[in-house]
Amino acid sequence: ATAEIGLIGLGTMGGNLALNIAENGFSIAVFNRTTDKTDQFMAKAGPLAEKLVPAKTLEDFIKAIKSPRAIILMVPAGEAVDAQIEALRPLLDPQDLIIDAGNANYHDTNRRDEEAAAKGPRFMGIGVSGGEEGARFGPSIMAGGPADAWTQVGHILEAISAKHEGTPCAAHLGAAGAGHLVKTVHNGIEYADMQMIAEVYGVMRDGLGMTSAEIGSVFETWNGGILQSYLIEISGKVANTADPDTGKPMLDIILDTAGQKGTGRWTAIEGLMLGTPASAIEAAVAARNMSARIAERKEGEAVFGAAPVALDKAAIATSVLESALVAGKIVCYAQGFGLILEAAKQYGWAMPLPEIAKIWRNGCIIRSAMLNDMASALAEDPARNLMLAPFFADKLKETHGALRQVVALGALNGLAVPALSSALSYFDIMRTGRSTANMLQGQRDFFGAHGFERTDKDGKGYHGPWAMG
Ligand code: 6PG
Repeated sequence: ATAEIGLIGLGTMGGNLALNIAENGFSIAVFNRTTDKTDQFMAKAGPLAEKLVPAKTLEDFIKAIKSPRAIILMVPAGEAVDAQIEALRPLLDPQDLIIDAGNANYHDTNRRDEEAAAKGPRFMGIGVSGGEEGARFGPSIMAGGPADAWTQVGHILEAISAKHEGTPCAAHLGAAGAGHLVKTVHNGIEYADMQMIAEVYGVMRDGLGMTSAEIGSVFETWNGGILQSYLIEISGKVANTADPDTGKPMLDIILDTAGQKGTGRWTAIEGLMLGTPASAIEAAVAARNMSARIAERKEGEAVFGAAPVALDKAAIATSVLESALVAGKIVCYAQGFGLILEAAKQYGWAMPLPEIAKIWRNGCIIRSAMLNDMASALAEDPARNLMLAPFFADKLKETHGALRQVVALGALNGLAVPALSSALSYFDIMRTGRSTANMLQGQRDFFGAHGFERTDKDGKGYHGPWAMG
């Protein structure tokens, strides 16, 4: 056996990850269910082929890897992962390690972790972000599983990861499903970040009547400031690109109905299950669901009329839209980190929040300049709501007025800004010392004698003087 590690699943992501590992000097055995794909992969590998050990059978693949073996799975999330683990189990030694690098639901990773503890071999779940290019040249890697698994392969994962000023964007975040939970929240934040950008694009397009190219240059400008991020950068590029067939802006050709593979939805579900607010992310998931109902939306437009367009160009300055995005972004990260913190408590996972902000600074889809400040703020006090860290509190003081202006403009003119609205509601609720839940408690006690606490006395289980029935 010569290979230091193995990889199963030579689709785009798996193939690129294997080439990345090879390029970093590690010899790697590769296997794909269909041999054709392995042949095609090897034919295109160029000089990296000398670090690659292609195998035609699972048995040959396993023989090619040094013991204790480490095997990365890059197969579609779900049943394919279980099937692959079942196929490998009888062929591996108990001290070997299977690493699921797909977008797994972390509950599945928790289950597989328990099964591995009972039946072997060892198991680890890693979230890998950065799309095809990240996989090939440096992704962000969020690892969960036993500490000794990280000891075995951490150096390889760090070597292949993206770097931020020399620091690897890869870390071990806790046991079992910790890595996949963090990847899921990453994707939930990705959904909200993308949706909020799409919403200000909508204000510029439908409200201010700006062309794609004009909008593109606004994004380009923003990318030089506080919003500097991969998603703002590519939004500018998308807006500035013309369709080669028609010469029209690509954005006017792309159908307005968004797909999703599920990770954003899982984040919203986890927020609800863990009882921690992820409302901006929920709004972004709901907006994708609504976008898919294209026929229904067209019917709605016919019945209610299109939202009034053609606002005065001076109705809102693009700098106000920029500030609104800053405020919305801080809220959605506060919610995302809050969710991770809650999961850490629930499962007893380490979840070093500053470390998570650090490994998101490069390689992943949500990489942005602001994450550096988030890492510092979380290092001061990981358990505090990010919104209350002095740096971000100051930013919110400067920008929540702009968020309010954009949401109000949207509301008055029928321009939908659901994620921004949701972010504003969260901000307003979280700055309200006295909420309206006293009314909810009164109602609950009235119809179900559920009891309430009093503002003037200690203890629980007080009731109002209302008669039953
Ligand atoms: C990444 C991405 C990647 C992918 C997701 C989300 O971090 O590299 O998040 O994992 O884009 O599958 O895709 P959907 O928008 O299809 O849910």
